[in-house]
Amino acid sequence: MSKVTVRANTDIALIKYWGKKDKALRLPENNSLSIILDGLHTTTTVEFSSQYHDQVIIQGRPVKKRERQRVIKHVNRLRTIADLDTPVKIVSSNNFPRSTGLSSSGSGFAALTYAVLAACNIDLTEKEISILARQASGTACRCVCGGFVEWLSGESSDTSYAYTYQPSQYWDVRDVVAIVGEETKSTSSTSGHIGARTSPFFTMRQQNITQKIDQVKQAIDDKDFTKLGTLVEAEALEFHSILFTSQPSLIMWYPGTLQVMHEVRNMRAAGIEAYFTINTGFNIHVLTLPKYQEKVQQSLDSLKLVQSTHTASVGNKPKIIQDHLF
Ligand code: PMV
Repeated sequence: MSKVTVRANTDIALIKYWGKKDKALRLPENNSLSIILDGLHTTTTVEFSSQYHDQVIIQGRPVKKRERQRVIKHVNRLRTIADLDTPVKIVSSNNFPRSTGLSSSGSGFAALTYAVLAACNIDLTEKEISILARQASGTACRCVCGGFVEWLSGESSDTSYAYTYQPSQYWDVRDVVAIVGEETKSTSSTSGHIGARTSPFFTMRQQNITQKIDQVKQAIDDKDFTKLGTLVEAEALEFHSILFTSQPSLIMWYPGTLQVMHEVRNMRAAGIEAYFTINTGFNIHVLTLPKYQEKVQQSLDSLKLVQSTHTASVGNKPKIIQDHLF
């Protein structure tokens, strides 16, 4: 069997996936919408060989036991489909800090799913790949697609998958990601999802979310950046209000996160169209248009608490590349 390397982009949720109605199947409470990010990616090489024992190396190191179990569980799911029991060596690397709120599990499991399927010569539709990736990581089901992506929550495993709502070339939007910390966040999204329903605001969120998703889709259709940004920033604040008020309460932000939020508001007051959003973490995404990108980057880079910035445009689905990691 051949060695295969896949590069998959991560994404940023415009409307967040938060809470699961089925934990084992990873069926989310609500539909979510995201933008695939060209510029922030995971590269993964896999090779099946009887000379190996199962190995998982991420960022140059063998992963810890729990993470290894999660990866091997997913590989086993794929091995079952391929009717295979050959050991696998997996080497993976991100070009952005992992476990800091930048959805590294999304790009990671999207790359792994694609790479294993390709190595096993299994040809599936994008929908089928999305359903498989979802079972390893919710966000991974969106990262197997390109452009502006919607994940349909569904009522069963077969009806919970993502698809491209608009392709990457539909609208040139930029995301300047400000890194304010590189250490692993204290609470994973996986454990955070469990507490979602304990927030008194969660029910209200569920009541309004379909309408909110329709509004964001309309803003994308109309290429109305002011409307999109306003909705997305408000959604991020609503989402974090739920984290603050859950049991246990989660405060993910760092001082640097707040510094960026204020700078975004200052930029807007000065006529620059920029809007922030944050996942479960402290690093913060700033959405803008190409004409403002340089100014936004400069402003964020000049902040004391910002360590670096990464800029992404709207990206495509995972692709096979020839630069193997081993
Ligand atoms: O896929 P998970 O379990 O890492 O959950 C991700 C949840 C958010 O990033 C906060 C929202 C989202 O839709 O990406």
